[in-house]
Amino acid sequence: MSPTASNALPNALPIVQFHSRPETVDLSWGHPDPATLPVQEWTDACVGALRRYGGSALTYGYANGPAPLVEWLTERLGHTDGRAPDPSRIFVTAGASHALDLVASLLCRRGDTVLVDAPTYHLAFRVLADHGVTLVPTPADRDGIDPAATRDLVAHLRREGRRVPLLYLVPTFGNPTGWSLGETRRAELVTVAEQTGLVLVEDDTYRELAYDGTAPPSLYSAAEDGTVIRLGSFAKTVAPGLRLGWLTAAPPVIAALAGRGYIDSGGGVNHANALSMAEFARAGAYEHHLERVRDRYRRQRDALVSAVRQHLPEVTFDTPAGGWFLWLRLPAPVSATALLPYAEASEVSYLPGTHFFVTDRGDDRLRLSFSLFAPDLLEEGASRLARAVAHLTSSAVPDERRTHRP
Ligand SMILES: Cc1ncc(COP(=O)(O)O)c(C=O)c1O
Repeated sequence: MSPTASNALPNALPIVQFHSRPETVDLSWGHPDPATLPVQEWTDACVGALRRYGGSALTYGYANGPAPLVEWLTERLGHTDGRAPDPSRIFVTAGASHALDLVASLLCRRGDTVLVDAPTYHLAFRVLADHGVTLVPTPADRDGIDPAATRDLVAHLRREGRRVPLLYLVPTFGNPTGWSLGETRRAELVTVAEQTGLVLVEDDTYRELAYDGTAPPSLYSAAEDGTVIRLGSFAKTVAPGLRLGWLTAAPPVIAALAGRGYIDSGGGVNHANALSMAEFARAGAYEHHLERVRDRYRRQRDALVSAVRQHLPEVTFDTPAGGWFLWLRLPAPVSATALLPYAEASEVSYLPGTHFFVTDRGDDRLRLSFSLFAPDLLEEGASRLARAVAHLTSSAVPDERRTHRP
């Protein structure tokens, strides 16, 4: 019943991050089903890249990323976003997480204050915290980040003598909400950033996973040079194991990244995979695979949305137009943290909303990922979750389970 991920070969060290629990519909993982990844097309792309580029595919790569991929990215972003960055504004990375770490190492000093959207991608907190910064939530309301209140907060923090170099957010099909920041808010936020010198770090990981029309233009495409650094990734569109992504930024940022010691020493990041990706795109496999995954994820989203509506009518949420997640609001007084052991006892799991805030908030929320399971299992997961809510509200979980799963 579970995806084909295997956490370990017999008697061997683990090979993947995902922990398979065959009996549980684990909706906590923002991962694709490994069985759906493009193994054959990627094999062809690797062979194609080696034939086309020979030893150049296996030697040290150009600092900013190899030309065939950078040129393709320029063209692609021209189609999928409001503005095509020219090649001097692109830097190839080992994924969006790596890009965020690079940006933080460039812009942050220990002791800085970094603003983060509330809620937002929880593992970005870890990446940023590695740089010794204090994370502060950006003021937000029902429509997302509040630009005027953000300007006031930045002014207030700076008056206190704190350095506030950047704000991290996922404004398009966000993790965990699936929401996108509206057009007016985007424009206002860019203006605030331009006025205050705050750099917006726009994590654009889900742009291509749009199920109802197209994604809104990025903040990057609407801003003056230097205001926004946008992070992109092939993890969701092609495969996370490739460890391949990019960032777009003003030329001085790109030059600073290209000039870092480890790039000088080791060359461009993930060079052979970058050339294989260029080949994957050239062969039409990127477009083809993307169409397939969009169809699959749209069906999975629809299945989970209707199952939650059917089994959990007291829960509220907005149907996401893209991405991988449903962000549920539980009926008061149900707490997502208190519900979790009941859910685990019912063989379903999720991430409590508290993960996605740097303050003590979010316990009335939970995130369900629909990326990993087929529609029938998503339906089963929602029905088990409903059982768990019923158990919690009637406190009907057996005592022995309560002791084992506090
Ligand atoms: C918003 C967001 N950013 C970044 C990542 C990680 O991206 P990558 O695998 O490219 O490092 C994820 C993965 O879940 C994500 O949801």
